[in-house]
Amino acid sequence: MKGFPDIDTGPDGPYTVRCLRRLTLQSKPANISYKAMPMQITEHVHALRIPFQVHLPTGITLERFVYAFLILGKRICLIDSGVATAETVIFEYLEKAGRRPQEIDLLVLTHSHPDHIGAAKAIREKTGCLVAAHEAEKGWIEDVDLQSRERPVPGFHTLVGGSVPVGRSLAEDDKIELGAGHSLQVLHAPGHSAGSICLLSGKERVLFSADAVPIAGEIPIYEDIAESVRTLKRLRALTGIDHLLAAWDSPRQGREVDETIAGGLQTLQRIHTIVTGLAGEGAPGDPMELCRKALAAMGLPPALANPLIARSFLSSLKAKDRQDLFTA
Ligand SMILES: [Fe+2]
Repeated sequence: MKGFPDIDTGPDGPYTVRCLRRLTLQSKPANISYKAMPMQITEHVHALRIPFQVHLPTGITLERFVYAFLILGKRICLIDSGVATAETVIFEYLEKAGRRPQEIDLLVLTHSHPDHIGAAKAIREKTGCLVAAHEAEKGWIEDVDLQSRERPVPGFHTLVGGSVPVGRSLAEDDKIELGAGHSLQVLHAPGHSAGSICLLSGKERVLFSADAVPIAGEIPIYEDIAESVRTLKRLRALTGIDHLLAAWDSPRQGREVDETIAGGLQTLQRIHTIVTGLAGEGAPGDPMELCRKALAAMGLPPALANPLIARSFLSSLKAKDRQDLFTA
């Protein structure tokens, strides 16, 4: 069926909905190149699009990608590690750029989900780098078995190479010095997860948004819609941003930056309107039933319902009396 959403059991949870144009369901690995596609964004910022696969118990293999970002300065800073084995493409890229992997001395993890931390252990073992993350994400980064139990996603242990110690806890407005006049400002960006962060390079006019901005046409995963909206409003109010670099989206620049964030807000507003509308009709007490009904109201198959989407939608009920939620 044209335009019919496909099922994605990727690292952000089982059965995240993504469009066919972005994802292909298949029963065997696709005949595609698995080389990372690097892209120089600014003088120092490089984006690595890292393809990977998620193997489902049903025998279906999902093709996915995630971005990791390198800041090549006097020091090398890596923003998110990608999934397990992504270290190979990161190290190869550095060597082609005339740098040594051992020059990575800082790995900033925007949050603890598998596609962001999967290669952290291997990278730290090779480089001895310091790992930095928000305090609220520390528990699941330092104990991935705990994360797997508390937030199971398909193929977790294939996607995540192991736990790493977080040597630096990051908080709102922290400044990460990169040397030679470069620094990153930490923006606490809760919503997707409690300790999600975005990073701002004022000098290069780049915003690293991780998973904070919902992707147009997809069902986002978040823990708290009110926090997600607040984060998006805040990101939208930032000035002087030329490049928006997200984990799951192509790099955006110029006018696309605001359009993308505004589109994310519209996506959340649409979901919120539907879910709170169901609440007005007497929402089902069962979160999964609410999820199925909300998906159906969006024109999506109710069978796509899963606990992570249900929890995302459920947060709208907690914020249903927030008249100001989507106002400026
Ligand atoms: Fe995530």
